[in-house]
Amino acid sequence: MDIRKAYLDFFQERGHQLIPSSPLVPDDATLMFTNAGMVQFKNIFTGEAPIPAIPRATSSQTCLRAGGKHNDLDNVGYTARHHTLFEMLGNFSFADYFKKEAIAYAWEFITSEKYLNLPVDKIWVTVHDSDQEAFDLWKEHIAEDRIVYFGDADNFWQMGDTGPCGPCSEIFYDQGEENFNGPEDKMGGEGDRFLEIWNLVFMQYFRDETGTLNPLPKPSIDTGMGLERVVAIKEGQLNNYHSSLFMPFLEKIGELVGTPYDFEAENSASYRVIADHLRSCSFLLAQGVNFDKEGRGYVLRRIMRRAIRHGYLLGLREPFMYKLVDTLVALMGEQYDYLTSKSEAIKTSMKMEEERFFDTIEAGIKLFNEELKNTSEVFNGEVAFKLYDTYGFPLDLTEDMLREKNIKLDIDAFDTKMQVQKAQSKANWKGTGDAATTGDFKALKEVFGVNEFVGYENTTGQAKVLALLDEEFKQVDSIDGKGWVLLDRTSFYAESGGQTGDSGTLNGDVKVYDTKKFLDMNLSEVKGKLTVGDEVEAVVDNSRDEIEKHHSATHLLHAALRELLGDHISQAGSLNDAKRLRFDFSHPKAMTSEEIAKVEAWVNDKISRGISAETKVMSVDEAKNSGAMALFGEKYGDEVRVVSFAEDSIELCGGTHVDNAARIGLFMITKESGVSAGVRRIEAICGNAAIEKVNALRDELNNIKTELKNQNPLVGISKLKEQVKALKSELDSVMSSSQKELTAVEVNGVNVIVEEVEGGDIKAMIDDIKNKYENVAVMLFMKKGDKVMLAAGSKNTVIKAGDWIKFIAPIVGGGGGGRPDFAQAGGKDPSKITTALEEAKVYLSEILEGGN
Ligand code: ALA
Repeated sequence: MDIRKAYLDFFQERGHQLIPSSPLVPDDATLMFTNAGMVQFKNIFTGEAPIPAIPRATSSQTCLRAGGKHNDLDNVGYTARHHTLFEMLGNFSFADYFKKEAIAYAWEFITSEKYLNLPVDKIWVTVHDSDQEAFDLWKEHIAEDRIVYFGDADNFWQMGDTGPCGPCSEIFYDQGEENFNGPEDKMGGEGDRFLEIWNLVFMQYFRDETGTLNPLPKPSIDTGMGLERVVAIKEGQLNNYHSSLFMPFLEKIGELVGTPYDFEAENSASYRVIADHLRSCSFLLAQGVNFDKEGRGYVLRRIMRRAIRHGYLLGLREPFMYKLVDTLVALMGEQYDYLTSKSEAIKTSMKMEEERFFDTIEAGIKLFNEELKNTSEVFNGEVAFKLYDTYGFPLDLTEDMLREKNIKLDIDAFDTKMQVQKAQSKANWKGTGDAATTGDFKALKEVFGVNEFVGYENTTGQAKVLALLDEEFKQVDSIDGKGWVLLDRTSFYAESGGQTGDSGTLNGDVKVYDTKKFLDMNLSEVKGKLTVGDEVEAVVDNSRDEIEKHHSATHLLHAALRELLGDHISQAGSLNDAKRLRFDFSHPKAMTSEEIAKVEAWVNDKISRGISAETKVMSVDEAKNSGAMALFGEKYGDEVRVVSFAEDSIELCGGTHVDNAARIGLFMITKESGVSAGVRRIEAICGNAAIEKVNALRDELNNIKTELKNQNPLVGISKLKEQVKALKSELDSVMSSSQKELTAVEVNGVNVIVEEVEGGDIKAMIDDIKNKYENVAVMLFMKKGDKVMLAAGSKNTVIKAGDWIKFIAPIVGGGGGGRPDFAQAGGKDPSKITTALEEAKVYLSEILEGGN
């Protein structure tokens, strides 16, 4: 049975709308990753978003529980049922049905022959100890002695520290005492005998920042069933990893390691950890998260490095994770087609990260083991910091390694080291300021809702001042100076999707500097005199034209990169303003200058063809069917705008654009660089900025030509270079010939020259001297401006030029070294030349005369 399909069909047949899985990176700053099916519906539960026309939904949501409130990372591989990434099947009621129906649906689905058909005598349920109602409802389906009351710890579910929450009722499957008889195998315990398969949450509250529970406007239902667990049960497996969803990975790992997976073997957890982590890392990479030093990208790195270390434990010494991606595509590529289309990019990024960590893992493990020898109970936190800082071992990896040995970590020492480092690198970074989070936006939205943006068509128009905020974002009746204005209908585009916010004027004399979105409301930053209720004439600045050119050019650039470099290109960030554009994208290596030129030419070709731009508003599904590129992590409403330049570029985009590509004018790439591992950046200009740049380049060239007396600049410069070279050698020979004759004195049968010279080629002088004598030790000093050059040579003597110069160079404020027969150095303190000459002689006599 295809359980995912059966579940979604069951609920669709019962009036639920099928909603696709939302991205793992949620549009919610309070959450690291999507950790439950309800995340994409959070605003509906809280009442911030309206209840949809169909107030019931069902989905199969990919969830990630690594970091944050629901963190399963440490358990993965060691229990039969924990994963970082898993699929949660869910049904949701938005103020529609409540406990009775939720319980009845669940019971039907798990017990009915047509669906899961699980034996009734293996089912147990729990309810919150305050929830008599749920108890009574369950009694209609299941024997009373199988309904167990539990407290908050087990039966109260919440998304995060804040957010919607409520008492819940969990459904367990008893896998039998004979299989698991550890003391922890009780319901709600850590063991695996009682497998929780489905959680029904009765959403009734919202927990705010102070921890207070506020009743939600309407009680709702949120449920979550773990697909991996149910598949294992149906396949008769006691361990999720032994189901058809994971076995192919374990087999493939066995092949790579050279020893097949064996559950009884001591190292079997390593196989399971790798299988699990391969899934989460691949999904994250496919959805545009990249390895990074902080944030989500760092969680990705932690998971990946944990898996790599388990590979290391299994004896692997070179990249292997990327070799498992094809297995994942075969298993899940049909349901998640982006895994297939991104598979090559996933492999490339993974392999690079593996190479990076394999470079240091050996040395790190050596350091760890050495420290372990000196440790009886508590591992040194400073060493853990060194492992983190120098060898790339995330803290939880070191903790993992210590847990295996039953050793604690001096976490305070680690934290102290970390804080010192952070303080050092913090410099003067400043955030957007607290005002933006403490401002009166919520109150404003409650009264006025989201204001209308009319600036796609009109860049001028009449509007009314609905509200004003001062510089601290507090609501005021009037301003005379700086503040923010909320207009009823605004032509000013608010910064989003990489497009910079509009500027302009209100009534001619009130200046609009910028426009931004706050809780989806469009507010402009202004300076001038305004009062709530004013009717104003809004005029968007002409710079909008230039912004649009750059935004449209970004779309063409994106299309060019996909066309010329491949489909693995996906956008990782962009910025478009009136003077430039910046586009970040996933690509494993630097572009060649040939590729850059081709991309630039491709875009200019589209521009010269004068392709007209078309914008259509349609449903998300229609948009996807039209082949439009959508971005992971971007929030799209029911209706989306699709911007296309014929067949060449079709993108979902809420920004504003030129009506015809020809208006972009000229497109020039100014720079290609790396942002982080696997992410490149192109900077480019177009429109007026490009024309200004071309003019500036022409002026520069003309100035160069004038300086070169109108010769071809390349010819002129090469002539100049030749002249410089000729003059230099002339100067050297003049200097050498004016040099005093350098004659050696004899010390214990060795010819010795230690002198300061005026100029010339110091190396050539040393060579000359060496040619002149059978044996010689020579050191010459030369003052050059405020610097000193020195060189030493030795021929048929015990003196080693390299050692000698290493000893002397510090006296003139420098350093250097070299071979026994020749060495040179530089110094910064010419005033010490005399002292250095003396010391150089002393050094010689000490060695040649044996210190006498
Ligand atoms: N949101 C609930 C959970 O994740 C269903 O368990």
